[in-house]
Amino acid sequence: MDVFCIPFIGLNRVVDIWGMRMIIPLFCVLLIACSENPPADEGESGMIIVNGVERSELARLMRQMYDEMKLVSDSLESGSSVSPKFYTNYERITSAHATEPEKIDELYQSMADAFLDNYESFEGDEDGQIPAFNIMVDNCLVCHQNKCPGPVKAIKKLKIKPQ
Ligand code: HEC
Repeated sequence: MDVFCIPFIGLNRVVDIWGMRMIIPLFCVLLIACSENPPADEGESGMIIVNGVERSELARLMRQMYDEMKLVSDSLESGSSVSPKFYTNYERITSAHATEPEKIDELYQSMADAFLDNYESFEGDEDGQIPAFNIMVDNCLVCHQNKCPGPVKAIKKLKIKPQ
């Protein structure tokens, strides 16, 4: 039981309902509900509230992909090799709920498949990681130019310039 509840247990009230005496623990339930953090409740639409803004499952996955690919890009640029293992997570771009579900059409699915093929090649490539990485990022861009132009500029910056 939540600690906030304990001082209030004494406040349980005895009330008379239809002649029956019932004990109602008045404040307890309320306080438990209020003292918990708001649950990360994912509704049927796959929407979730983050910092007061409604974010779709796809938007959150994309943001994660961006953050992870930024780290990969920085590592490759500094001359390190990487061994990312994100394929099974990124595969969810074909099924995750989007802010605008009407955007998830056949064209989207074919661009998603092309992206995943190229992403897989990048992960499997030991020798030519930089060119494989840049081709994969081009696939992010193809879909974004068609479906979601907002982040294009930021995604372009992930590409690694020839040394
Ligand atoms: C097949 C299409 C497609 C591919 C491939 C794709 N994206 Fe997206 N991306 C989208 C769509 C559609 C949205 C909008 C999602 C929403 O709001 O539900 C989005 C949203 C985003 C966002 C904004 C997320 C936010 O905070 O709202 C970023 C950043 C992003 N993508 C980065 C990337 C990166 C980086 C890659 C490649 C590693 C990539 N995307 C590959 C279609 C794609």
